[in-house]
Order: sequence, then structure tokens, then C-alpha cells
Amino acid sequence: MASTFKTIEGTFDVLPGAAVAVHRVEAWQEVERGIRAVMHRFAFEEIRTPILEPTALIARGIGQLTDIVSKEMFSFERGRTSYVLRPEMTAPVVRAYLQHHLSQRPGAARLCYLGPCFRAERPQRGRYRQFHQFGAEILGVTDSRADAEIILVMMAIYEELGVTGTDLRINTLGDEHSRPRYRQALQAYLEQFKGDLSPISQERLARNPLRILDTKVANERELLQGAPKLPDYVDKHSRAHYEALKGWLDDANVRYTEDPFLVRGLDYYTRTAFELEHAKIGAQSALAGGGRYDLLASAIGSRHPVPAVGFAAGLERLFLALDAAGVTLPGRQPVDVWVVAMGPDAERQAFSLVQACRRAGLRTGSDWSGRSLKAQMRLANRAAASYVVILGERELSSGQVQIRQMRTGMQTAAPMNTIVTYLQSQQNASAIT
Ligand code: HAM
Repeated sequence: MASTFKTIEGTFDVLPGAAVAVHRVEAWQEVERGIRAVMHRFAFEEIRTPILEPTALIARGIGQLTDIVSKEMFSFERGRTSYVLRPEMTAPVVRAYLQHHLSQRPGAARLCYLGPCFRAERPQRGRYRQFHQFGAEILGVTDSRADAEIILVMMAIYEELGVTGTDLRINTLGDEHSRPRYRQALQAYLEQFKGDLSPISQERLARNPLRILDTKVANERELLQGAPKLPDYVDKHSRAHYEALKGWLDDANVRYTEDPFLVRGLDYYTRTAFELEHAKIGAQSALAGGGRYDLLASAIGSRHPVPAVGFAAGLERLFLALDAAGVTLPGRQPVDVWVVAMGPDAERQAFSLVQACRRAGLRTGSDWSGRSLKAQMRLANRAAASYVVILGERELSSGQVQIRQMRTGMQTAAPMNTIVTYLQSQQNASAIT
């Protein structure tokens, strides 16, 4: 039996004029424009890195024991090299920073990005195998104002696009010694209740106990109330950094909640960690997350440490939040002019007229399949054309064409050689929208 191919599970196409915004290309273009405008205003510069990266970069950068590296990588071998479809952009950005010696440029690197990422997760609402991240990273700055600015640019994007009801949670993870110490204490505490834990949490207890902090199971959440808290294991300098960050956020009137259980699912963080959530977008409620990662550059081979902080956000989840906020996004873009031609001579002249209109800056369409006048008018309607120019054999013999303003239905005859100027003047007078 013949079958056609479909997108693979956890991926989707983005089409012109689709009914749902997240599947509609015009909506993506508008949202991407909005994101880039805010990034630009915060003086971030765009970086584009390849989708393919060496597996070792991601494994060393994000951490072997993380879910992303141990279970969710799309990786494959070619010859003696192992490649991965990037699951995130921070490790690739740091790789590019080191590779191109961006530290030698004056000042900090303020880089932003937007592009597809890949994780072999179980697909569900808000969770895909190919998804899109936008984000920003500041490399080369230790000061807590950089942490604050990253949070500010992230918040500004949601605010300006019209998303309401976000919830910012922050925490400090301390230095490289704090987390192992905490991990041990948490493990010891949870061991006492091992029998009460779910099978998944029991498995995590030995391998990656910090992941249990994300549990949604009610009795586990209750058990965690009495568990050791990460802030009690944090070194003095990290604590001071955290206090300063909170001060900057207060100064900028950013509302946040402190969450001593927030640890994030990537191993590269030290000090600041944060997550932005939205209660109304389903089980996958994290819109964005990030933090400071002063040790990542060294983990992937840099001889000098590079202090850095950043955030990344899921574009598909931003669409869910826009929908929850009732924000309407643009649909198909109308054309200015649709040229309709009847008969071979008219079709020949129509071809030149279409190109002349485009040279004059008019968005112009036509259909070259020789359909009936009625069918061509229907296409003009579907393209939401402001004007239709009709070239019929009879009119052409007298050098005239018909122009119809679609909004009013008013139709007039005009000489062929004045059409472009006429339409242009209409556009300049904002008659063509
Ligand atoms: P992350 O929390 O793994 O952090 O991902 C950031 C965001 O990407 C999430 O909050 C979520 O919105 C989106 N996301 C992740 N996985 C999926 C998926 N399977 N489907 C849809 N959306 C998804 C990072 O990736 C870090 N690189 C963030 C960062 C930047 N830290 C420092 N700088």
C-alpha cells in the first residue's frame, strides 16, 4: 500500500497561514522579531553556531550523569568521530568563544541566539524532540550585575510580547565544593526513607539525587520539607554574590521567589540558578532557565577560567504562554496587487506587468495556470489582494486594463502604461495596506 511520509514524532512543520499560532510561520516571524528587538536594545550581538557538535563537547560541558547526556542525546558516529545534534546552546557558545579567542576583544562578550535544539525526550504538550531555544550569554564578567542583566533581558522579552503570569524562582548553588557536599547530605537524608520513594526516585537516589528535588509526587514533596537545604551548604563568597544579585533585582523592580530546592538539570552551574515558570501552560511549565557557569570553559579545555552567565528559553513554550495571555499574532500577509489575465496575449503582458510591479516595491502575485476569470478572482481574494488588475483580450486591443479596488469593489479602466505609477501612488497614499 502506498503511504506518504509524515513528520517524525516530537517534530512539526510551520506553515503559512496555519490556524494555530505555533504552527504558523507569520506568527514565528513576529515573535522572532520581538525577541531580537529586545536583545538588540540590551546590546547583545547574535551568534550562530552549527547544529552538529562533537559529542564530547556536550558530554563534558553538560555532565555525563545528567538526563540530557545519559538519555536524551541524538548522537551518531561517522568514521572515528561522534557527533551530536545540539541539545542546547551554552556549551556550543562557550566553544565558539574559546575557538575564536573572543576574550581578546575589549570588554565582555554579550551574545544572543535563536535556533533549533534536539532532545530525545518523550513528546508531550510543550515538550518536543526538535524545539527552538532563544537565549543570551554574558562571558567574561564575574560581577552579579551580569546575572541581573541576564534575568532582566529574559523578563523584558516576555513582558514586551505580552506574556503575563510568569513566576521567577532563584537560588544559589555555591561554588564547586558546595554541590557535592549538599548532594551527600541529601543522599544520606533520603536513604532513611528509601522504601517510601517511587521507583524512579529510588534509582535517582544512587545516581543523581539532586534530580529528586524536582519530584511532583506528593509524599516525596512532603519528605523534602525536612531535607537539608542547599543554601546551608553554600560558601561565603557565593552567598555574598547571591545577596548582591537580589539587591539588583530589587532595584530593577523584578519580582522573584527564592527556592532553596532549585538545582537545574545541567551540571555546569555554580552560584546563580533561576527558572521562569508559567502556571497555565501545562505540565511542562518551565518557560526558561539559566544561571552562572564559571567552570564550564575549563571543563571543555580552556586553560583560563571564563566567568559567565546566561539564560535559554523554549520558543514553543513561549507560544503556549502567549496563547494563555490571549495575545493575537499575525496571519497570512496580504498582497498589494493580484494580476489576472485572460488569453495568451494578455498572459504575456501580465508576466511583464507583474515583474514591473515588484520592481516598484509592490507585493504582487498572479496565477499562471490559465484558469477562468472567476477562479483567478477567487485566488486574488484568498491572497487578500488590495487591488486586482485585469488584463482581457478585448481591453488590451485598446491599450486599457481594468483595476479593481477589492475593499470597495470599485472598478475603473486605465491605460496599461500608467498602471504601475497609479498603484504606487495608491500605496504611497496608504490606500494599499
Ligand atoms: P534548559 O532548562 O535545559 O536550559 O532549557 C531551557 C528551556 O528550553 C526550557 O526552560 C524549556 O523552555 C526549553 N526546552 C528544553 N527542552 C525542551 C523540549 N524537549 N521541548 C521544548 N522545549 C524545551 C538550557 O538549555 C541552558 N543552556 C540554559 C542556559 C543558558 N544556562 C546558561 N545559559
